[in-house]
Amino acid sequence: MDISLPKKTITVDKWTLSDIDCLAIGAFSPLSGFMAEDDYLSVVEKMRLANGEVWPLPITLAVDERIHGDILPGDRVLLRGEDGVGYAILQVESSYRPDKKREAQLVFRTRDEAHPGVKKLFEKGNLYLGGPLEILQRPVHEQFAEYYLTPAQTREAFLRNSWKTVVGFQTRNPVHRAHEYIQKAALETVDGLFLNPLMGETKSDDVPAAVRMKSYLALLECYYPASRVLLAAFPAAMRYAGPREAVFHALVRKNYGCTHFIVGRDHAGVGNYYGTYDAQHIFSEFAPEELGISLLFFEHSFYCKACEGMATTKTCPHEGDQHLTLSGTKVREMLRNGVTPPPQFSRPEVAKILIEGMRERELQG
Ligand code: ADX
Repeated sequence: MDISLPKKTITVDKWTLSDIDCLAIGAFSPLSGFMAEDDYLSVVEKMRLANGEVWPLPITLAVDERIHGDILPGDRVLLRGEDGVGYAILQVESSYRPDKKREAQLVFRTRDEAHPGVKKLFEKGNLYLGGPLEILQRPVHEQFAEYYLTPAQTREAFLRNSWKTVVGFQTRNPVHRAHEYIQKAALETVDGLFLNPLMGETKSDDVPAAVRMKSYLALLECYYPASRVLLAAFPAAMRYAGPREAVFHALVRKNYGCTHFIVGRDHAGVGNYYGTYDAQHIFSEFAPEELGISLLFFEHSFYCKACEGMATTKTCPHEGDQHLTLSGTKVREMLRNGVTPPPQFSRPEVAKILIEGMRERELQG
């Protein structure tokens, strides 16, 4: 084995570094590196790797051809973070120019650059490099480091707790009452809940990860049985790819050891690009044994004044005027003005942390 550090170097952004970390810890298994062209094409066209295994999203290393056009298959390249630290070595096996318009259309179902995932795709370099990674070290997280567990660690924790069935929950938001309702409805039928918030890059108007993490801790302390919940960070970045990302999120949680995964309304969606339940419908394109994780689908949930509790249209007979629904924009506006949303929408302990977080953010400019 060649143990010297390669001379060629690529500086990767935080987004790509979070992918490297997910690859390093096995969260993206069976992938162990960035996709070569055959896997990439097959994933974009068929949501499967070249060997036929289900995999819905391209995991690629995009570089600027003007800077890195001299990198060729056979090269070893050091991948450095923006902090100058070398995190991994890429053994280049494949170098190719993607058809990004096609990738956008098939992966995001749109080419509209107002879509944050499409925007990101077009901003990235026009040359993709694929190949296995040799990991040098994991990124160090200054805050909440103890929550960055590997799939091996979470599987071990599930075993220690004697949880035979575990439901995974993906979120890029604070946990509001609707989220809590579907998590607890699921937890009624399984042994444990794996709260696995996405901590990588999100769009700028989403609540920052550190503020969310504080809000999860407060919520768990006040409203969840400690012996039934494991909280861990999912280091990946958000793609906003709706249906395809829901499949990706499910497969990743299988890697973390979950037996079940929750998909509610507009999972991983943004704007009006996807139908409310498209991220549930997509799973019918695969045989259950191909996925290896059971899906728990939930309808749009809300607080119903007449029922005096959380419900969905499956369980509540009342008209919409009895339902409390607040848009994300409205909630953000309330929080920014220091107004606590009603307790039927968000737990007061969570709202308090979000208001403080908004205030700090504004002070920082
Ligand atoms: S996501 O981008 O990570 O999917 P979010 O954090 O809002 O966004 O959602 C986390 C999970 O909760 C997703 O499965 C989503 O479908 C579900 N969800 C969010 N809000 C509701 C709701 N009001 N009713 C039912 N499911 C919901």
